[in-house]
Amino acid sequence: MCGIIGFTGKRDVKEILLHALETLEYRGYDSAGIAVKQQKSGKTEIFKCAGRVRELRALCDRSEISSECGIGHTRWATHGGVVNRNAHPHQVGKVTVVHNGIIENYKELIAYYKLESGLDSETDSEVAAALLNHFYEGDPVAAIRKAVTTLRGTFALVILFDDQPDTIYSVRNVSPIVATISEEGAILASDVTALCQFTNRYFVVPEYHILTMKPDSIRLENLKGECVEPEYLTVDWELNSSEKNGYPFYMEKEIMEQPDAILKTIDKRIVDGMPDFASDGVPDDLFTGCERICIVACGTAMHAGLILQSLVKRVLNMHIDVELASEFMYSDPVIDEKTLVIAVSQSGETIDTLEALKYARRHGAKGLAIINVKGSSIARESDYVLYTEAGPEIAVASTKAYTTQLAVMYLIVARMAYLKGIYSREQTGAFIAELRRVPEAMREVLAKRDEIHRIAGRVIEAKDLFMIGRGLDYSILMEGSLKLKEVSYIHSEAYASGELKHGPIALITQDTPVVAVVTQKKIRQKEISNIREVRSRGASVILFEKAELADEVSAEFAPCMLPDMQDEFMVMPASVALQLLAYYVSCDKGFDVDKPRNLAKVVTVE
Ligand code: M6R
Repeated sequence: MCGIIGFTGKRDVKEILLHALETLEYRGYDSAGIAVKQQKSGKTEIFKCAGRVRELRALCDRSEISSECGIGHTRWATHGGVVNRNAHPHQVGKVTVVHNGIIENYKELIAYYKLESGLDSETDSEVAAALLNHFYEGDPVAAIRKAVTTLRGTFALVILFDDQPDTIYSVRNVSPIVATISEEGAILASDVTALCQFTNRYFVVPEYHILTMKPDSIRLENLKGECVEPEYLTVDWELNSSEKNGYPFYMEKEIMEQPDAILKTIDKRIVDGMPDFASDGVPDDLFTGCERICIVACGTAMHAGLILQSLVKRVLNMHIDVELASEFMYSDPVIDEKTLVIAVSQSGETIDTLEALKYARRHGAKGLAIINVKGSSIARESDYVLYTEAGPEIAVASTKAYTTQLAVMYLIVARMAYLKGIYSREQTGAFIAELRRVPEAMREVLAKRDEIHRIAGRVIEAKDLFMIGRGLDYSILMEGSLKLKEVSYIHSEAYASGELKHGPIALITQDTPVVAVVTQKKIRQKEISNIREVRSRGASVILFEKAELADEVSAEFAPCMLPDMQDEFMVMPASVALQLLAYYVSCDKGFDVDKPRNLAKVVTVE
């Protein structure tokens, strides 16, 4: 949470900072601010306000800014309300700071170092500035060293010292910072999307290392003062792949990109028609040696885990748990060296998932991460990584990250089934051939977006809504329901349709919208009966059904037809339909689809 940027070089910094903050705004949008070293006066000047980057831009446009060195921040509030004085940067004495994370011992620090008089905001972050100022006696690195050894919690700190021209310092624990240097200058940011405008080479600042950036050099050192060589990574995202490319919202663009993202994710892992993780460096004995699997993830990524769980049980007949990462280590999980823990995350920075993975590995489990962002914290914490090829996902509501996670999971199941002798080579090949059909099936759903847009009109006025299904249909409805909630603010609950009569059916009254998905042949009859039960109580039923299952019974509900795939694979095209439904409801309600209230794309607080 919170987006950070810093640049020092040979270009006007104002536009670089504002553009980067617009790119990073999905990390938090409660307030925004920049601090620049003014060329004329040499002073560090701050411009900040509660609200979006566009308001900061207006503020900056009214001000005189001439600078080639500065730092910026977009905030997701943790400590203190959404008001101007809590916006970053914070300045205390000679020190100006932007911060992402939570300083847990900020109250003790205020008391111990008597920092109170220098503070103006309600934030923990300003205490870091005050602490650095307290320790500063002309040597920035020495002050940072002292400060970080007293701070408890998570932090990515980016710091300007008044008397250090053109120089930016940074240090971090857990919260991410990536950096790079190009001909135009040195730049750092919370994530790589903000660096793409300069270069596709970057490095992750290691924890508890101090980065010193000057216009034509960078120095990375550990806390003992020893110089450390940065380990550069390459991101193969197009330089413009984090732009909207003509779509009104990133969410729509990202929904539309799914067929290509799936292909990119699976193609490089299919060799001679067989699933193959050799190029990822994932050994087969990771799969053959494990006795149980445990998935840890949050939100949408956890919902992807539910699909893997169903597939593993169905195809591999193996024990597998799916745990909410935030609950994991407090739930006395059964973990040992025969457990394979799969951490799933788009950002690779979700702190609950990261902590769950660390816990599992401390208890002997092997870790495999399914991640979208290269070099992210979870990827680095894991024994092995399978990267999804979704490209940058900017909309807060996750779409293409989810379906590419699913694609990787189907490959895992196929590989495991083959290795365990459950599938022959031919059966494995047939499974993979069906997976390859997914992009085409998704395209068929995307072609129905006008129809789905019309369907969205039926729920736009709803306050409460239910989504019902069984088995895999229920799992994708949990994700569909989350999607609708977060972008449309309609209260939506996914229910296993067989459970309705055990309580929730009491909430169905005249015209309550109920979205039903029916794609699984063996449970269709029961699903249809459950749909009839809600309809007889007045529900307004919206049915999405696999075309080949539809008959005169379901015709009563005028279903939106989903393309035919084998039952196990229907989750992917069906998910696209639910994503579009949520998207259009949000659009038609006039909401800022990409930035739903109270949320942030990257959740780095527990
Ligand atoms: O980056 P991650 O995949 O670890 O994020 C996990 C959740 O925070 C995320 O999926 C969240 O639920 C999305 N807003 C859902 O659209």
